[in-house]
Amino acid sequence: MEVLSVASEVYPLIKTGGLADVAGALPAALGPHGVTMRTLVPGYPSVMSKLSSGRVVKELDDLFGTPAKLIAARIDGLDVIVIEAPALYDRPGSPYVSPDGWDWPDNWKRFAALSWVAAELAMGMVEGYNPQVVHCHDWQSGLAPAYLKFGPTDHVKTIMTIHNIAFKGFFGPEIFGQLRLPPHAFGVGGVEFYGGISYLKAGMECADYVTTVSPNYADEIRTPEFGMGLEGLLNGRADTVVGILNGIDTDAWDPSKDQALAQTYSANTIHMRQVNKQAVVDKFGLDGADGPLFCVISRLTDQKGMDLLLQAVDGLVDLGGRLVVLGSGDAYLEDSFRHQGARHPGKVSIINGYNEGLSHLMQGGCDAIVIPSRFEPCGLTQLYGLRYGCVPVVSRIGGLADTVIDANPAAISAEVATGVVFDPGSSHALYEALRRTVRLYHDDKLWKKIQRRGMKSDVSWETSAARYADLYASITGLKTNDYPDN
Ligand code: ADP
Ligand code: GLC
Repeated sequence: MEVLSVASEVYPLIKTGGLADVAGALPAALGPHGVTMRTLVPGYPSVMSKLSSGRVVKELDDLFGTPAKLIAARIDGLDVIVIEAPALYDRPGSPYVSPDGWDWPDNWKRFAALSWVAAELAMGMVEGYNPQVVHCHDWQSGLAPAYLKFGPTDHVKTIMTIHNIAFKGFFGPEIFGQLRLPPHAFGVGGVEFYGGISYLKAGMECADYVTTVSPNYADEIRTPEFGMGLEGLLNGRADTVVGILNGIDTDAWDPSKDQALAQTYSANTIHMRQVNKQAVVDKFGLDGADGPLFCVISRLTDQKGMDLLLQAVDGLVDLGGRLVVLGSGDAYLEDSFRHQGARHPGKVSIINGYNEGLSHLMQGGCDAIVIPSRFEPCGLTQLYGLRYGCVPVVSRIGGLADTVIDANPAAISAEVATGVVFDPGSSHALYEALRRTVRLYHDDKLWKKIQRRGMKSDVSWETSAARYADLYASITGLKTNDYPDN
């Protein structure tokens, strides 16, 4: 089975968040299931710089007004097709925003081009390449199912995976004339959304199947509270909507051989994490106090509940905890963490920016990772935390609720607890969870049990890759098994 994955980011070529990790890990995880996955990705500078060899498989004179080349290559173990179109993608920094933080004004065109190429590839644009499924990720690829549905042939099946329904790829109706879609595509059965155009809605409407990244989020987004205006569409096609939990790349994230750690370790040598803890303390300039070290590795946004954590910082320090934050995002949150660092020198510290290696070291050295999200489609940092013995303290929402078992008395006596879970949206509930975590931390035997259990829990792609493979098989009719319910 050949599947074309369409993603605006894919690790290790380009990453701003969890989408890249998922798009980067799925191809290898699907291999054992007989699925060959090739990834279509825009030729941003960081992608082009890694493209040492490659074969031009198509030249286009006019990709939304600019010449382009499609280059097939294998980079860092990934089979990719890169769209080299400098006028669209050769820009510094993030794939989505200009250096001053504003969305690129032609994002509609940049990602319409990505989607259009995906659909043309599915329709046989490159001789000898005939994928049976196009698997789209998030709004940037959402027009691909529409191009196929409204195109000359729609025999290739499509899946739209929602990693975050908050980002809808919404644009004004004036762009419609330039999208290369027939007039009737501007309607409820197509790309139209509240008078404008939503690429995500288009994908959700036109794809054969809609998936999202955890079973719990699949339920949540069918309600007005979390569906962000798309709950009606989802409820209308409920039998073709499914939540498949993300896994992680357990090779790239393996504490027993992780080169980014000061000290590698396993569940049996968990005491050796202390060396990493000291390295984190040094890196962030904390004092040498005993006590639990909490971390945050995150985009600093409202989604992630960072304002709630800021309100709980004083309390955390009073409890004897210290906090290190690695992240970037909303300026007021970055400033507030810096301010808290100044108020609590040696106890609270933020490193602003993106640093993959440091994120590994923090998972390998901190005692607990705090994830107080207001909504969280899946979340990956709690999975990395489990794998590294960095106990997740998470709100009971989305994929966080699907992956962490709260250390309540029943779970402790049943020996299944892997973290601490609290009600979302409340700094008080977060503070109480931190308090409970500090208590657990001081019960050394119990704490180590929780850490070890997390380290041994299955956070791999194994089960979920099989579910995707089954889904590809069932929509293409190559296998007749019905897709199981969540
Ligand atoms: P989201 O995709 O919503 O940002 P996820 O938890 O799914 O959240 O994925 C976030 C990914 O980005 C993880 O791999 C996490 O380790 C990484 N990450 C987030 N912020 C940083 C940072 N400042 N430096 C390094 N890695 C980061
Ligand atoms: C999104 C979500 C996050 C999820 C990631 C990968 O960025 O916010 O919860 O883990 O996609 O699916």
